[in-house]
Amino acid sequence: MSITTTPITPDIDLYLEQMFSNEDDLLRQLRIDAEHQGIPSISIGAVQAQFLSVYLRSMNAKRGIEIGSLAGYSAITLLRALPTDGHLYCYERNPEYATFLENQIAKAGFTKNTTIVVGNATETLAQFPEHETVDFIFIDANKEAYADYVLQTFPFLKKGGVVIADNTLAWGDIAKNDVSKTVTSLQKFNTFMKEHQGFLTTLVPLGDGMTIGVKL
Ligand SMILES: C[S@@+](CC[C@H](N)C(=O)[O-])C[C@H]1O[C@@H](n2cnc3c(N)ncnc32)[C@H](O)[C@@H]1O
Repeated sequence: MSITTTPITPDIDLYLEQMFSNEDDLLRQLRIDAEHQGIPSISIGAVQAQFLSVYLRSMNAKRGIEIGSLAGYSAITLLRALPTDGHLYCYERNPEYATFLENQIAKAGFTKNTTIVVGNATETLAQFPEHETVDFIFIDANKEAYADYVLQTFPFLKKGGVVIADNTLAWGDIAKNDVSKTVTSLQKFNTFMKEHQGFLTTLVPLGDGMTIGVKL
């Protein structure tokens, strides 16, 4: 038993990467092709991806929303965890990234399982299909809008469904004072989730941290 979190040293990080990564040739090539196209290398890590796969499978997730899809690394990971008739709505602001994402999703064989919505998610989420419900919301876009994304998607999220938000350790700055506007937003977001009566929330310190709230 332990009451403290074991610090993730570089050797433990490497161990996790070697033991619990699901990165295959397609995802490796995606990272390379994205870099060649000038798309920033800011996707989730392979260990986080494996965690998301395990987590979504354990809850039998079928439908979900991703806010901030970039080149498709996390989207393909999420899609692979869904059943063959599963569906993922990808919200991506940048049209060039969205085109790259569309090609990668086709390459991975998930075109029919995916809807890509291009534009600012705070605006485009307002047109989310009426009566549609989802099992999860994966948030990885504008850090200052995380709480807004939760409020906007809350009505579509099933009871027992989850919100998973990335970067909630704020690149190591989450517990500091006098931090940037982005870090302050992430601090406020964690407090928002903790205090939200509609969720039971935790923070998993994998990668840059993922705040996870289950809808009560
Ligand atoms: C960190 S990246 C996402 C990485 C991706 N989830 C992955 O792990 O492969 C953040 C993405 O959010 C997008 N984004 C930022 N602000 C957005 C907004 N307001 N609406 C939709 N997408 C946004 C960016 O264009 C970028 O592609």
